[in-house]
Amino acid sequence: MNKHITFHNHKVTKEDRNKLNKHKSLVIWMTGLSGSGKSTLAGDVEQALWDKGIRTYILDGDNIRSGLNNDLDFSDEGRQENIRRIGEVAALMSDAGMVVISAFISPFASDRKKAKDIIGEDHFVEVFVNTPIEVCEQRDPKGLYKKARAGVIPNFTGISSAFEAPENPDVEVRNHLNSRLSSCQQVVNYIESRILESDNYLIQHG
Ligand code: ADX
Repeated sequence: MNKHITFHNHKVTKEDRNKLNKHKSLVIWMTGLSGSGKSTLAGDVEQALWDKGIRTYILDGDNIRSGLNNDLDFSDEGRQENIRRIGEVAALMSDAGMVVISAFISPFASDRKKAKDIIGEDHFVEVFVNTPIEVCEQRDPKGLYKKARAGVIPNFTGISSAFEAPENPDVEVRNHLNSRLSSCQQVVNYIESRILESDNYLIQHG
């Protein structure tokens, strides 16, 4: 940080906003291969939380790369900067009192760790959408695996670029073995247990 910059702590705090919202802020960080089902799961989880009166927002790879991050490519450096910015945005939204659901491949463990450090361990939930590459490739909803195999898309995660699986995720979802509903329920149950830890979560959300 520039030495001529001074961080200003404003009067209304995250804790105040959590009290107003009647729930704690969280960042649900989903990681997994392209086609693993992150966006679908993010949408289902958001709907379930929203129905309980929780303030949510989804940050989604393809969407953010169409706007804020449309200057970034899929090189290692491009992905690092992608995740760094998302970590900062998620931290701001968490500070603003939201439950943020981020759905990015986020293939590198060190970048996920940095995001966790920016957001704070207490507000960070790592969800590994652990769908095997064979299944993702068979699904191939956008036809990208086919193009990657044909050499049309370089640096494709799982084929020509690495994916470092989380070693100790808070939740591991296997949506190719379980129903869509039970995968969603698994994440929601965990999130509720984390939100309930907090004094700010009032019973009426139950
Ligand atoms: S990340 O690796 O930097 O975290 P991000 O989640 O933002 O990736 O974007 C992934 C999405 O971009 C994929 O779901 C896919 O639709 C598209 N995409 C385009 N090129 C690639 C590529 N080389 N590797 C992976 N995904 C790609």
